[in-house]
Amino acid sequence: MSEQRENGAFIQLRDIAKVYAMGKVDVAALSGVTLDVERGEYVAVMGPSGSGKTTLLNVLGGLDVPTSGKYLLESVDISKLPDKELARIRCHHFGFVFQSYNLFPEFNALENVMVPMMYAGVGATERRRRAAELLESLGMGPRMRHYPSQLSGGEQQRVAIARALANDPDVILADEPTGNLATQQGKEILGIFDDLNARGVTIVMVTHDEGVAAHAKRLVLLRDGRVESDERVP
Ligand SMILES: Nc1ncnc2c1ncn2[C@@H]1O[C@H](COP(=O)(O)OP(=O)(O)OP(=O)(O)O)[C@@H](O)[C@H]1O
Ligand SMILES: [Mg+2]
Repeated sequence: MSEQRENGAFIQLRDIAKVYAMGKVDVAALSGVTLDVERGEYVAVMGPSGSGKTTLLNVLGGLDVPTSGKYLLESVDISKLPDKELARIRCHHFGFVFQSYNLFPEFNALENVMVPMMYAGVGATERRRRAAELLESLGMGPRMRHYPSQLSGGEQQRVAIARALANDPDVILADEPTGNLATQQGKEILGIFDDLNARGVTIVMVTHDEGVAAHAKRLVLLRDGRVESDERVP
């Protein structure tokens, strides 16, 4: 009977609002977003600057909690979980990829990829083995000991993707993942996402670029914190 047990999409957002209090003014970043995402989907999120794209990704990945509304993940309401629980869910279900890579500058590529596995409680030997394997699979084998400052943007993004994949997430959430890259490097990163999706990883990707969005199979358009349109690409 409980709504928390109803069978539905893998991810169900119901009337999600996110309001930031800025002194005396409230900024509504999301105003009633209802969205389902099934396992294996590849969704592009577009919309003008300030329309709520990053906020939506942060809510989806549990980096931010909605002000109101309901978030069901595998039919469990995670919108009101304590921080610690949310961190555990984030760690196991989601991998994040950002426009500016966000690698730890003091760690080399291998160590960067090992970090999320440490949070998940994976042993040191296995962490190292899996990190190396992921980097190899993304063509970064020869660069494993390099620090972020010694890598090109495209290489840093590969390391960031390897890190996002470390705990074998269900979903990759990517915010303008090719925004800082030259065309060819961006194409290579999109090729990696295409492969991941073909292997069953769900992808939700924010982009300003229609060519990038064309890699996805569904396009969600946000405007003023609302879903303006939501179309599956035939
Ligand atoms: N931490 C915050 N505190 C206050 N306001 C915020 C915060 N984060 C976002 N906002 C506001 O919420 C709205 C949506 O922001 P968001 O970052 O989600 O937009 P966006 O669609 O990702 O924009 P862009 O394309 O420029 O990255 C904006 O008006 C923004 O100023
Ligand atoms: Mg943004």
